[in-house]
Amino acid sequence: MEYLTLNNGVKLPMVGFGTWDIRGEVGKRCILEALELGYRLIDTAQMYNNEDIVGKAVKESGFARDEIFITTKIYRPNTDYKRAKDGIERSLNKLQTDYIDLLLIHEPYDSALEMYEAFKEAYQEGKLRAIGISNFDIRKYKTFVKSCGIIPAVNQVESHVYYPQLDLKAVLESQGTLMQSWASFTEGRRNIFAEPILNEIGAKYGKTSGQIALRYLLENGIAVIPKSVHRERMEENIDVFDFELTSEDMEKIGRLNEKRSLFGWY
Ligand SMILES: NC(=O)c1ccc[n+]([C@@H]2O[C@H](COP(=O)([O-])OP(=O)(O)OC[C@H]3O[C@@H](n4cnc5c(N)ncnc54)[C@H](OP(=O)(O)O)[C@@H]3O)[C@@H](O)[C@H]2O)c1
Repeated sequence: MEYLTLNNGVKLPMVGFGTWDIRGEVGKRCILEALELGYRLIDTAQMYNNEDIVGKAVKESGFARDEIFITTKIYRPNTDYKRAKDGIERSLNKLQTDYIDLLLIHEPYDSALEMYEAFKEAYQEGKLRAIGISNFDIRKYKTFVKSCGIIPAVNQVESHVYYPQLDLKAVLESQGTLMQSWASFTEGRRNIFAEPILNEIGAKYGKTSGQIALRYLLENGIAVIPKSVHRERMEENIDVFDFELTSEDMEKIGRLNEKRSLFGWY
């Protein structure tokens, strides 16, 4: 595993395991499998209704707590200071942990700054190792950082070869915020796995188009959290550190950029 360093010195695994839509006993088994295969970051959210199985899987895995990086996100029902504060305690309880490695505001709510006050307090108390945001576009990010006090360590956003958001990445980087991609495989909105350019480049390295798509993001300094319930795909998605794309490969992949969200979120 390779790591990126957040603006407060905390190390973030470059490839993590996404858990959207993974629940119950089967979901817990997937998370355990991912940990066994070498994933060290698990991405969950209150909205996913699965923090409890993440907590259970981490406990059952036998890994020391500090070997695993847990990200979770607080969402709409907890958008004022008091509710955000209570929400942090609820996540800690569900995750069965004394601290969360990274807590994000799930979306740019109007009261994001108010929520962030609760985040900052919990951060100072050692309940959170890093704090950040998700789904903030350039305009909302710039407004937020003017008065947030602690620069968000991470902004987790839609990012894939069809909409990498490198302009957003540059703005984040200029302030010290790291970008993390969700939907690195477009959540199935495009058949990224049959994309001719990615297949062609993959053939040179003995890699799949999915691995090339992830590598493109990683080489742009963007962390990823692909999700799969299939063991062989989990293995494939983490096996992306033994080759490098050339500048010509990067330029070819860059031509896939459609410059618009596939989700209409920004
Ligand atoms: N912050 C936010 O607002 C936000 C929004 C969305 C997602 N997220 C986070 O980001 C994570 C990743 O996004 P996502 O799960 O929505 O989408 P994704 O990672 O782009 O795509 C997941 C889909 O790709 C398939 N897949 C995975 N690896 C594959 C491979 N090697 N070959 C072929 N198919 C493969 C999976 O199917 P199988 O499972 O059947 O293998 C699943 O259908 C989420 O799980 C969640 O943790 C955050």
